[in-house]
Amino acid sequence: MSIARGRFITLEGGEGAGKSTQARRIAEALRGQGREVVLTREPGGSPRAEKIREAILSGLIAPLGPTAEAMMFTAARIDHLDHTIRPALARGAWVVCDRFADSTRAYQGALGDLDPRFIRSLERIAIGPNIPDLTIMVDIPADVGMARASQRRDGAPDRFEAEGPAFHEALRRSFLEIAASEPGRCVVVSGAQEPDVVAQAIWSAVEARLLAAGEPAAKVGKPESTAPKRRRAAVSKTGAP
Ligand code: TYD
Repeated sequence: MSIARGRFITLEGGEGAGKSTQARRIAEALRGQGREVVLTREPGGSPRAEKIREAILSGLIAPLGPTAEAMMFTAARIDHLDHTIRPALARGAWVVCDRFADSTRAYQGALGDLDPRFIRSLERIAIGPNIPDLTIMVDIPADVGMARASQRRDGAPDRFEAEGPAFHEALRRSFLEIAASEPGRCVVVSGAQEPDVVAQAIWSAVEARLLAAGEPAAKVGKPESTAPKRRRAAVSKTGAP
């Protein structure tokens, strides 16, 4: 008997949008239905990717330039997919991920100087068929998000929080553009509301898009370019596309 594939949900948005709280709430609600849920985040989500996260957010990679930084996020994503996301989906778990590839499109795109085709080809190489089933864009005016982020932070702003208002405005536009260009995958929810109201709006999207009968299961597969032959064979044995 083949195992039903899990579903892959990502949350995206600028600083202070409240994604992490909402990711936890989706995970709790799905667990409440008796499902196995893996709650994870990017950059990070696997031991090696967490090490890359530390390097990026400390600002160690920034002097290498935006190309190298985009490649480091991608390297972390490959490890995260290999060791956390893909195994979870394959065993039927649902994966709820706080940021994923849209953050590379938006953040590294907003830094400027990077050809969007380069960012998209990194994305194709890293994620291949592992496209989220549902992406929740938690949208908030950039100044409101930045004010929230500075209130909750203990120490100095990290690598990206330290960028100026124009950067954060560009990020917001970029996330909204992604949502508009991929309406089948993305739902925009206003993060400038009470957390309970945001959670309800997100849950309605999960119900409508994923829990309604007949929704096809997540694709689980290794992108050709990063797939060692031995493991590709193992994946196809389990019936993955
Ligand atoms: P984090 O503290 O997790 O931020 P947040 O709570 O806002 O999610 O730090 C992750 C930072 O890394 C955040 O500023 C967004 C940035 N980022 C990118 O620039 N590119 C990416 O591909 C990802 C996943 C994150």
